[in-house]
Parts: sequence; structure tokens; C-alpha cells
Amino acid sequence: MDKNTRMHLRVYKDLMELAASRENPTPMVGLSRVMPDSSLTLWAKLEWYSPSGSVKDRAALAMIRGAIKRGELNGRALVEPTSGNTGIALQLYANALGLLPVTVTIPEMVPEEEVLLLRLLGAEVVEVPDGACPRMPTDGAIAAAKALADSPATTDQYHMLYQYGNPDNPQAHYENTGPEIAAQTEGRVTHLIAGLGTGGTLMGLARYFKERHPAVKVISVEPAEAEHSLFGLRNLEVAMKPEIYDPSLVHEVIKVSDRDAYRMAIRLMRKEGLLAGPSAGANTYAAMQLAQRGEVGTAVIIFPDDALKYVHHFKQYMDQEVRS
Ligand SMILES: Cc1ncc(COP(=O)(O)O)c(C=O)c1O
Repeated sequence: MDKNTRMHLRVYKDLMELAASRENPTPMVGLSRVMPDSSLTLWAKLEWYSPSGSVKDRAALAMIRGAIKRGELNGRALVEPTSGNTGIALQLYANALGLLPVTVTIPEMVPEEEVLLLRLLGAEVVEVPDGACPRMPTDGAIAAAKALADSPATTDQYHMLYQYGNPDNPQAHYENTGPEIAAQTEGRVTHLIAGLGTGGTLMGLARYFKERHPAVKVISVEPAEAEHSLFGLRNLEVAMKPEIYDPSLVHEVIKVSDRDAYRMAIRLMRKEGLLAGPSAGANTYAAMQLAQRGEVGTAVIIFPDDALKYVHHFKQYMDQEVRS
């Protein structure tokens, strides 16, 4: 069977072929029930179909490939600050490629499910007290990873890919996610809605669409609260701006509260049958705001990961969301 036939039948020689790419895009699913009569046609791009279960799969693989290509590893182990998903993806590909275990620095607030998953995969997890950077706990994890990668005593043991400043991160979305969306919507996309973490997804998509389909509006979603439970997302009012993030490339920022995001995710579960995670809920809530304002067109909403790692965080919103 040739590669195209195999991919069409979803037969992959190994995990590396299963990673998302233009030839093997993540699925896009229409949302027909969560917002009936919406002026926007809504599509969910399901990033949890990647091997490691999140949007960070693409950046992690691109950064590893880039570091190997440039000969940067030199037998050193990877160390990376992450709120979970990047670490899971890095360790998964480190295993598939036979690299050393990854050291992951992680804020203590991260759900226990993610920490356990990291350990199951074989990662070394360094939990950084949330108080290490009280304004934004993930910034404490960044400092801890930098210390291991840069200090003279450990620098020959660790290499940090540094997702917040690594151009391979947005490039993964420029080369794959953008073209996938253009092809999957047959060029009809008018609005792109994605959450801001490192900014990799937003920057890659913004650059791709600015060059190819400049009328497309790129919407960034940020948590409304300073202390929030939208894991993977950053509130730039309190957290440092990632080096790769250029706010001038996004057309609008929409802020979403924990409550609105989690409740929308539950609506997505109950109305559409989609196992949406909290940030997928946040992005969909932002799409609803656009629709309520009368924006017209075809909106593609990034669904970064599913709900399974966050079930405990959903508990408090479960009974508020009325069945209808
Ligand atoms: C769970 C999760 N991880 C990560 C991200 C951020 O992606 P990026 O680092 O590409 O900005 C998001 C964005 O929505 C997310 O929801």
C-alpha cells in the first residue's frame, strides 16, 4: 500500500506518521446545536486527535525536530517549563525517538492528572511552588527551567527548547494548521479563534492567513481573571508576554471567565457530544460573542484538548449548567 492510500485508510507505519500534518490533518467538526441560528457557521478543529492529545503536539514535535536538525541536543536531556500539555507531547516524542527522559518544570496548580500522566510517560517532574511567581505561577516554572538549562553546574546536562521564544513553535502552525484549515474550509474561513498560551498557534495562523487570505480575522482568547483555571492560557495583563507573540498580528482579544468557559464546555458535551476541555469552551464562548454581535461568515474554533484531564475542575460547574 502506498503512503497516500495508507493515510486515507488511517493506517500509519509508526507514531511519527500519525502526527498532524497537511497530509494527515486533525478533524474539523461542524457545530450545529450549541448555538442554533448563529450568524456564523461554526467549525471545531479537534486538536486532541493528535497522538499526545493536545494542540501542543505540533509545537513539541517541530521544536524537537528543529533541535535535532541543528545539532543542539548533544546528548543532553530536554528541560521545559509547561503547564502540562507541552511536557506530555515532548515526553511522548522523546520516547518514540529514543531520547532521554524530559525534565518538566510545572506550577503546583496544574491538575494532578497531568502530573501523573507526565510521570507515567517517564518524565521527571519538578513541581514549582505557585508562590514562586505569585502574579503568574507559570512564570515561576519558566525561571526554574531556565536555571537548569543555564547554570554552569547543569548546562551540559540540559537543553531547553523554550516554547515561549522558539520560532519552530509558530512555524508548526504556519506550515500545517493554517494550510489544513484553508483546505478543510475550501478557503471559506473568515474568523479564526484560538487561545493564547505561548502564542504559537495564534502567530503561526496569523502569519499564514495574513499572507494567503488577509481578510480572515484572527481572534485571541485570554482568561478574564488573573488567577484562573484555563490551563494552557495566559492573561497578558498579569503574565509576561511571550517573545514569539506579536499582538499587532491579532485583530481582537476576547477575555473569557472560568465560569463562562467551563459552562460552555459542558454545553458542548451535552449539546454536541464533544468532550471539550475548558479552553475549547473559552474559545467557543468567544465565538458566541462574535455571533451575538452579528459577525457573519465561517468561524474555525481551535479545540486545544479534551476534558479528561480536567474532570475535577468541572465538578463545581456541573450543576449550574441547566439541561435544556
Ligand atoms: C490546553 C491548551 N494548551 C495550550 C494552549 C496554547 O497554545 P499556544 O501555546 O500555541 O498559544 C491552549 C490554547 O488555547 C490550550 O487551551
